[in-house]
Amino acid sequence: MRKLQFVVVLFLSLAAASAQTSPADVTLTANPVFQKNCVRCHGDNAQGRFMHGPSLISNKKIQIATPDDLHNIIANGKGHMPKFGSKLTPEEIDTLAHEVKALNVK
Ligand code: HEC
Repeated sequence: MRKLQFVVVLFLSLAAASAQTSPADVTLTANPVFQKNCVRCHGDNAQGRFMHGPSLISNKKIQIATPDDLHNIIANGKGHMPKFGSKLTPEEIDTLAHEVKALNVK
């Protein structure tokens, strides 16, 4: 009986832990291309890093940008952001653009 109680408690705490991250938050950050190329400036949670890239979440510039605009920023760079047009395939950049956009839909 004790063992069953333990299993129930474990299950409930796992359910509570997974409920804390909404699916929208994990799409971009779960993308290995993002983890490899973008986290050093935008942070592994995409919320920006001290003195580096801006947050990619709830970002007004991204809210008004189209996925095409974002594709161009990622491919051609912007300010201190390097260009990824020669490092990533157009498909990888498109996926990133859509995932970034998805985090900023009002
Ligand atoms: C060397 C640091 C660096 C890396 C690596 C980097 N970025 Fe950036 N990124 C920046 C900076 C700095 C800006 C702000 C540019 C500006 O406005 O001058 C920016 C801006 C952006 C923007 C536009 C948002 C805005 O507020 O202007 C997007 C979208 C973006 N980055 C996505 C990405 C993605 C996706 C990757 C990975 C492929 C990436 N970045 C890699 C530094 C970086």
